[in-house]
Amino acid sequence: MAGKEIGRRYFIGTLTAASVAGMIPRAFSAPPSRLAVFGGQPVRTAAKKWPKWPHVDERMIDEVVKTTRSGVWSRIQSPINGAVATFEKQFAGMIGSKYCIGTGSGTQALAICVEAMGIGPGDEVITSPYTDFGTISAILTSRALPVMADLDPASYQLDPADVERKITPATKAIMPVHIMGLPADMDRIMDIARRHRLKVIEDACQGALAKHRGKSLGTIGDLGCFSFQASKSIACGEGGAIVGNDESLIDECYTVHNHGTNRKGKHVTIGPKNRMNEFEAAILNGQLPTATERFLLRNRNAAYLSSKLKGFAGLIPQKQYDGTESGGYYNYAMSYKKEAFNNASRQQFLKAVAAEGIALSPYIRNGLHHEAWIDHILALDEYKQLFPAARLQKYREEARHLPGCDQVCEEMVVLPGSGPLIAGTADMDDVINAVMKVYENRDQLKSL
Ligand SMILES: Cc1ncc(COP(=O)(O)O)c(C=O)c1O
Repeated sequence: MAGKEIGRRYFIGTLTAASVAGMIPRAFSAPPSRLAVFGGQPVRTAAKKWPKWPHVDERMIDEVVKTTRSGVWSRIQSPINGAVATFEKQFAGMIGSKYCIGTGSGTQALAICVEAMGIGPGDEVITSPYTDFGTISAILTSRALPVMADLDPASYQLDPADVERKITPATKAIMPVHIMGLPADMDRIMDIARRHRLKVIEDACQGALAKHRGKSLGTIGDLGCFSFQASKSIACGEGGAIVGNDESLIDECYTVHNHGTNRKGKHVTIGPKNRMNEFEAAILNGQLPTATERFLLRNRNAAYLSSKLKGFAGLIPQKQYDGTESGGYYNYAMSYKKEAFNNASRQQFLKAVAAEGIALSPYIRNGLHHEAWIDHILALDEYKQLFPAARLQKYREEARHLPGCDQVCEEMVVLPGSGPLIAGTADMDDVINAVMKVYENRDQLKSL
């Protein structure tokens, strides 16, 4: 067999991840095939396409045409039966929330919640350094202080012990981020919030439809926020939503998002104009009827990949907490352990896998605690006047030391949830075969 390419089926059939890792006896004795990066045959050629993203179908197009023709282009033209109102009812029903408000983005949704809870100058909100900057920006918009707690490096989620350590008398809320749409450690976070009388705003921007202990993400805390930006599993270009069960809090969110004007048209408070528009809602309304199908497919594919990687020391799938029933799988995320690959760097590994036709990639390369916004806000008079100097100094120091997050930034590799993760089982086999082929040839990676 020397010099022959090893068939893909052969890899999947006999060379499970666990056997490669040497954890169970191996039935495989053929010499490794040549890596595509060195001129060998790739596991997957460009002729095999991944599903297109964003998802588009006729129902979505019909809804947009209907809205165009109707002339109802703003939610205030039809507050009860318009596209936005219809979306809000449908989405709330799908995730089991009493109320929903459509917004222009996930960032807007989060910022509205902060403002509606009365959190502002001089207050602190604890959140994750490993997230879209929209999470942090939503706290800064109200001139509150985003305090970053460290991560559990295996789950990439907030470490509840560090959350509790970071609570000060100024802390008003916790904003857990369900990263990749998998549930954060909500049992412990809700317990901490109750004991310290803090509000919880769930950043479920990546977690539409996912469940933890029978509840949808976004419905566990006081308020939950979603993003429908183009890459998200339910997408309309730019869009977002707030969900909650407390009528008066949701009414406050409505008022804030409607430039401070309440449902009765009275101008009562401060707020931006962050209303979802009817066209965004039309695309969502056309998409929701099939969204669960794609959500289930992502979960099936993720479970399949995890079963194939079980016992493999080189790529460890994102850890899930007790109570996790499903995930949004914005990405299927894994930790790359270079020790298992003869200390080849993540970059070398990714280059070899890409040549095999599989685009795995890092996600966030730099935790938000390393970005310039921190020094920027600490230099602003408003922060200097609102927080004691000693507090800001401690804040600056603590933000330098989030080793769990740094580890995640170094190790994570992802298969995108938009497109690849809604492909078929044979496509998932290609992913595993590419990884295993690179693993078999790990001695050569150092020369890349
Ligand atoms: C975890 C997280 N939070 C917040 C946001 C912000 O959402 P948007 O891009 O819709 O403003 C995103 C989207 O990228 C996100 O992934």
